[in-house]
Amino acid sequence: MAERSPGVATVNEENARPIVQSSLCQDVERVLISAEEIQDRILDLGRQIDERYTGKDLLLIAVLKGSVVFVADLMRAISIPHELDFLATSSYGASSVSTGVVRILKDLNEPIEGRHALLVEDIIDSGHTLAYLTRLFRARNPASLEVVTLLDKPTRREVDIELFWTGFSVPNEFVIGYGLDFNQKYRNLPYIGVLKPEVYEPGSE
Ligand code: PRP
Repeated sequence: MAERSPGVATVNEENARPIVQSSLCQDVERVLISAEEIQDRILDLGRQIDERYTGKDLLLIAVLKGSVVFVADLMRAISIPHELDFLATSSYGASSVSTGVVRILKDLNEPIEGRHALLVEDIIDSGHTLAYLTRLFRARNPASLEVVTLLDKPTRREVDIELFWTGFSVPNEFVIGYGLDFNQKYRNLPYIGVLKPEVYEPGSE
């Protein structure tokens, strides 16, 4: 039997499971979408993206920070050659009234003119971020511009936007995990969970 080295992980079934800190799980009211359901849906999306973009110059544009986990799995479900770029926008906060004003904190590294751009989002809420980004990128003359989002909260929509692919439509609840945060925490949960109200509204117990 191989000896365990303190600095090297041994590959076995135990190591293959996602590691979740138990101190984070106690704030989750319930699991809305399991890790397995997410991975199954991402495989579907990857296959559809393969079909649509075969032979095309595909550029995935991930909107930081929430979409990091999603894009990491999605790009591995896509088998055709493609590139990845990142964009960071200012956040106006989930609890504040949305102004529709979006500020670019980090722009793309590469031009998108003539390329097939696919925006990757973790969640669409009011739609303001996406409406702004769509306008911004259309002006750069890509060959095409489409959107894939893991989650959509259609009941919160304030502006009309066009989504090409949606992983899951979710109810108007405080969702966290798999990239989505509350106060920058919980992004590491491998599932989409509903946050306990007492965590974001202290005194509501
Ligand atoms: C989230 C999400 C979208 C935006 C959607 O980002 O990733 O970019 O909000 O909201 P909207 O439809 O109301 O515009 P957030 O600002 O929370 O930043 P983060 O990704 O860094 O968590």
